[in-house]
Amino acid sequence: MTETPANGKEALRIADLHAWYGESHVLHGMDLSISRGEVVALLGRNGAGRTTTLKSVLGLVGRRTGTIRVNGIETVQMPTHRIAHLGIGYCPEERGIYASLSAEENLLLPPKVQEGGMAVDEIYQMFPNLKDRRKSQGTRLSGGEQQMLAMARILRTGAHLLLLDEITEGLAPVIVQMLGRVVRKLKERGFTVVLVEQNFRFAATVADRHYLIEHGRIVDMIPNAELEAKMDKVREYLGV
Ligand SMILES: Nc1ncnc2c1ncn2[C@@H]1O[C@H](COP(=O)(O)OP(=O)(O)OP(=O)(O)O)[C@@H](O)[C@H]1O
Ligand SMILES: [Mg+2]
Repeated sequence: MTETPANGKEALRIADLHAWYGESHVLHGMDLSISRGEVVALLGRNGAGRTTTLKSVLGLVGRRTGTIRVNGIETVQMPTHRIAHLGIGYCPEERGIYASLSAEENLLLPPKVQEGGMAVDEIYQMFPNLKDRRKSQGTRLSGGEQQMLAMARILRTGAHLLLLDEITEGLAPVIVQMLGRVVRKLKERGFTVVLVEQNFRFAATVADRHYLIEHGRIVDMIPNAELEAKMDKVREYLGV
């Protein structure tokens, strides 16, 4: 696979990344490069290693080797909190909303990682439902509201590289469309977004490029404009 040459515009560069959980070797030489302001999807079957790729960026796996550069800075030896302070926001698959806190308390919880985070008012403009529900307890929010909240709260932190894991999973089409509008707005504002998706139809509405992952490696990279023409291949890799 050809590599994009390193340049000052690179938000994330992963090269020859291997990752383990205990004895279990899960990523086998991952290579990818994402420019600032790009929205890129990681597509693959269950267990392909998509979540592990995001976790590896933050140092949340047992062990990793290789290269992970964030804005040109090598992070593979860094502890998680230092990596986060390079401006990374992670929205995990399980969302991690605190049940006993209100929506607004959840929103205000994550510490700032950099200057220039979005103000709460701006965030409520982007997610009007959350404003209406700001006093509601975490447990009383719908799945869609919890997902919006999980995304909203990383925007306050000043992170500019957003790692979003399966944000559309299990949500109604109208919510999925709304999240699509949010991701497109974030792109307009210059955020870099890495999106793990099972739903390639959604990915096609927001992503500039798609990496296909199989058995812990990148097996293809497809620009969004070519996705339609390569749909047979995509389906084969995703097993759908
Ligand atoms: N904490 C863990 N300990 C041991 N093995 C794990 C752990 N988490 C994931 N794995 C294994 O690593 C492989 C990759 O998992 P990963 O979570 O990255 O998959 P994925 O592509 O995100 O798919 P999905 O989210 O559908 O499970 C799988 O074989 C999975 O069983
Ligand atoms: Mg996953």
